[in-house]
Amino acid sequence: MEQEKGPGSDFLGWRRLPSQMSRHHLNKINEIAKFVQDQADVFISIGIGGSYLGAKAAVEFVNHSFFNQLSARENKVPKMYFAGQNISSDYLADLIDILKGKRICLNVISKSGTTTEPAIAFRLLKEVLEKRHGKREARKRIIVTTDQKKGALKKLAAKEGYTSFIIPDDVGGRFSVLTPVGLLPIAVSGINIVDLIKGAKTYEKIASDPDIKTNRAYFYAATRNLLYRKGKTTEILSSFHPSLQYFTEWWKQLAGESEGKNHKGIYPSTANFTTDLHSMGQWIQEGKRNIFETFLLIQRSNRRLHIPRLKNDDDGLNYIASRSLEYVNDKAFRGTALAHKEGGVPNMTITIPDRSPNSLGQLFYFFECAIAMSGHLLKVNPFNQPGVEFYKKNMFKLLKKPGF
Ligand code: PA5
Repeated sequence: MEQEKGPGSDFLGWRRLPSQMSRHHLNKINEIAKFVQDQADVFISIGIGGSYLGAKAAVEFVNHSFFNQLSARENKVPKMYFAGQNISSDYLADLIDILKGKRICLNVISKSGTTTEPAIAFRLLKEVLEKRHGKREARKRIIVTTDQKKGALKKLAAKEGYTSFIIPDDVGGRFSVLTPVGLLPIAVSGINIVDLIKGAKTYEKIASDPDIKTNRAYFYAATRNLLYRKGKTTEILSSFHPSLQYFTEWWKQLAGESEGKNHKGIYPSTANFTTDLHSMGQWIQEGKRNIFETFLLIQRSNRRLHIPRLKNDDDGLNYIASRSLEYVNDKAFRGTALAHKEGGVPNMTITIPDRSPNSLGQLFYFFECAIAMSGHLLKVNPFNQPGVEFYKKNMFKLLKKPGF
C-alpha cells in the first residue's frame, strides 16, 4: 500500500484526500450547504452503501440525538432524511407523507450513476419536488454528486443544469465520505466540515509513518489479522454510545465489502451496548468461540447527567447516587471487557476524546487506512466488490431489464 503497487492501487485516492482538499473546494460545498439551509425545510440525501453511510454516520455522531425532532428555532438547519438505501414502498411513501407543505431540496449521490435503489427514489422524490416547486425551481433544488464523465446521472445533471459535485475516479464508494459524497450532507446538517477535514489530515499525517509501533491503524490491522489466523473469524465492533450506531454500520460496510472475497475475510458485526448486552450479550459471552471484539469508546460525552439521591432509596440506586451516567457507563464497559475476555473473547479498545467533527475526521481516516491495509494482509483487493453484482444480475433478469 505504501508503494501503491498492491491490488486495486488505482483506488488509493482516499489516502491523500484530506491534505489535498483545498479551502476553495470546502467553501464551495459550504456555499451550497448554506443555500440548502436557507431554502429548505427538508433535505433528502439519496444514495446507498458508500453513498449513504458516511453522511448518516456523521450526522448521528456529532449532532443532537433527536436532531430531526428539534424545532426550527432550536436547530437552524433543515430536517434531514435519507432515501434510496432500500426499495421499500412503505419507507418512501411514509417519507413522502411528511413532505407535505415543506420546502424541499434533494441531493442524489451515486458514483456509478446507475444504481437502481437511489434511481427509483430519485424518480419518485423528483416528482414530488416538481409538483411542490414547479419544474424550473425544482432544478435549482436538486444537487447531484456523481462521476466526472460517465453514468446516467451525469448525463441527466448536464441536461437539466443541476448543481453538481464530482467523486474523484481514484476514490471508491466506501472510501468516499471525505469527498462531496459525505461532505455536502454533513455540512447541510450544520457540522463544521473544515474541522472534520482537519481531523482527517491529522490522522493522514500519523498514518504516513508505516512503522507499526506508531501507526495504530496498521497495528489494529495486524492484530485483527493475527486473531483471524487463530480462528477468530468474526469481529464485533462494540460501542457504548448510541451516537456511534451508524458509525459502526459505516465500518461494517467498509470492512465487509473490502475484505469478504476469495472465500476469505473477517466477518464484521456490530453491537450497541449496553442495549445489546441484554440480547447478544449472551451469545458473545458463551456462544461459539470464533469471535473477537473491538470496543469503540468516547471519552467525554457532550452532556452530563447525575443520578439523583432519593430519601427512601426504593429503587436501591443510592449506592451510585450523585455519580454521573458516564461513570456508570464506563464501569459497564470495564465489566463487559473483562467478562468477555474471561469468556474467551479477546478484545481491544479504540478510544476517541469526544464527539467533535475533528475526532470523527480522525476516526474515518483511521479505519479507512486500517481496513485497506487489513485487506492487503488478507491478500485480497480491498477496493473492488465483484460479489455485489450477483444479486443485481438476478434481480434485473427477474425484472426483465433489457440485456439481462
Ligand atoms: O463501496 C462501494 O463501492 C459501494 O458500496 C457503493 O458505494 C454502492 O454500491 C453505491 O454505489 P453508487 O455510488 O455507484 O450508487
